[in-house]
Amino acid sequence: MTIERTLSIIKPHAVEKKIIGKIFDRLECAELTIIGCKMLQLTLCQAREFYAEHQDKIFFQNLIQCMISGPSLISVLEGENAIQSYRQLMGATNPIHAISGTIRADYADSLTENAIHGSDSSISSTREINFFFSCYELFSKKYQL
Ligand code: CMP
Repeated sequence: MTIERTLSIIKPHAVEKKIIGKIFDRLECAELTIIGCKMLQLTLCQAREFYAEHQDKIFFQNLIQCMISGPSLISVLEGENAIQSYRQLMGATNPIHAISGTIRADYADSLTENAIHGSDSSISSTREINFFFSCYELFSKKYQL
């Protein structure tokens, strides 16, 4: 059994659509535990730094505009194989390719406004969790970093 942590962002357009509860219900039903959570509106600087790996991509400006357009709900999830487990719940990045019943298939508006973000590896999850949270903001009974 591998207990992992992963970062989840419910993107501004999904917060606006009032689907936080629906998304949290799905992940808690999948045995992912929310061990930290905050709502914040990313600054331009934060968004550009968080998504720096995509800075040369053609979609970068649209992605940044989407991410600073309103508050996001940012959380840390913990559970068995949490990274892969959350990615399965999310579905493919492009909602056109997302399997029916996944979060993106049900709630994404477009490839950029694809409802949620989740870390894609353990290296990313460590970086992304540390980007938004200090250890004092995480509440775990299972696993101490
Ligand atoms: P996310 O999981 O937040 O990680 C990077 C984001 O970039 C992705 O979700 C999409 O919102 C966006 N993205 C990835 N690929 C493309 C693309 N080809 N065109 C537009 N946006 C993209």
